[in-house]
Amino acid sequence: MSNSAAVSNGNGTVPYFEIENTSIPTVPKDRILVKTVAFAINPTDWKHLAYKRGPKGAIVGSDLSGIIEEVGSGVSGFSKGDIVGAWAHGGYEKGIGAFQQYAIVHPSQTIKFPKSEIDVEKVVAVGDAPSGPIDTFEGAASVPLGLSTVGMSFANQLKLKVENKSSYADKYILIWGGATATGILAIQVAKVVYGLKVIAAASKRNSDFLTSLGADFVVDYSDADAVAQIKKIGAGKIYYGFDTISYKTTFQALYDATSETDGPVVLDNLLGLNASSIETDESKTNVRYGSTLAYLVTGETVNIGKGPIPPPKDLVKDYNQFWFKVLPSYLPKLKHSGLKVLKPGLESAAEGLALSQENKVKAQKIVFRG
Ligand SMILES: NC(=O)c1ccc[n+]([C@@H]2O[C@H](COP(=O)([O-])OP(=O)(O)OC[C@H]3O[C@@H](n4cnc5c(N)ncnc54)[C@H](OP(=O)(O)O)[C@@H]3O)[C@@H](O)[C@H]2O)c1
Repeated sequence: MSNSAAVSNGNGTVPYFEIENTSIPTVPKDRILVKTVAFAINPTDWKHLAYKRGPKGAIVGSDLSGIIEEVGSGVSGFSKGDIVGAWAHGGYEKGIGAFQQYAIVHPSQTIKFPKSEIDVEKVVAVGDAPSGPIDTFEGAASVPLGLSTVGMSFANQLKLKVENKSSYADKYILIWGGATATGILAIQVAKVVYGLKVIAAASKRNSDFLTSLGADFVVDYSDADAVAQIKKIGAGKIYYGFDTISYKTTFQALYDATSETDGPVVLDNLLGLNASSIETDESKTNVRYGSTLAYLVTGETVNIGKGPIPPPKDLVKDYNQFWFKVLPSYLPKLKHSGLKVLKPGLESAAEGLALSQENKVKAQKIVFRG
């Protein structure tokens, strides 16, 4: 049997990949082989290709959904035939990546959906589809990397614990970039799983949508006084900040908006920023800075950007608790974002990567079938 795959050309130039017939990967004992059905695009997919983070022969893409074909001998909790959403570190090493007929994934990157939750017959039509419960292969493909990112941030960096939920009822989290794919999931997890009050910074046009997902307040980040508005709403009780955009300017805004919090504050971001990236008040010593990199959830060191990045302390313990023990019971309460569904076929990855790289899709996840 052959395996059709979007294989990176390794040269950093569009179209980035070719569709090739490769062999079905052998399953390492700690991994899972998924027969893929649908895929989703993430900004990291084109970044890995454009910045040549992996070799020729790496497979493009991160997010997928499908049916488990084979389970490595050392993996428990998953079986052949399970319906899953999963993600892989695409564009980074040969043979690994989502956009292929048979993909290898790690259990910590895999969400098992109850068979009753996913309508396996339903194919979401090409075009725009609204946000809704995760009940199709398209919806299931749109959430895995985002949920891993939120899980790592909240469980390991922000150190949120579901057993402390009652203590979060009067505490705020500020999610900068509430309408990003990551932010849309972060708002829901903050609200539904941890019971936090949520302030989201997002464009005004997304305000009603984000409120429907659980944001208590949505502030338009393009308002000149956005930080002042957030400070007023938070009234000294914004203890957690999550910056899904992670420009120096947005991380600065996160810092400034939480500057009046009376107590320890944790500020997390997704692109390796820290205190030295922004202007801080040296007299304020109660701020801790986090940096989330979802690639680390397997517990392995990764080599992207400036050099080897090891997993942070307690990552596997904190994250696995969230991923395997907490998340499953909340999955039916979570919604995927609006979808932009492309034509079926791995070739659609080229259109998806271009739309993402050109920043043309807002508050939607680009998905397509294989
Ligand atoms: N470290 C990790 O593990 C990790 C994991 C996932 C993603 N990432 C990175 O995180 C970033 C976000 O990825 P994503 O897939 O979640 O995003 P995305 O869905 O592609 O984000 C699109 C949204 O960004 C919002 N946006 C743009 N500029 C903004 C600003 N200045 N302030 C607030 N919102 C702004 C827009 O919201 P409006 O429509 O409201 O304007 C737009 O709808 C990317 O750089 C990605 O590579 C990192």
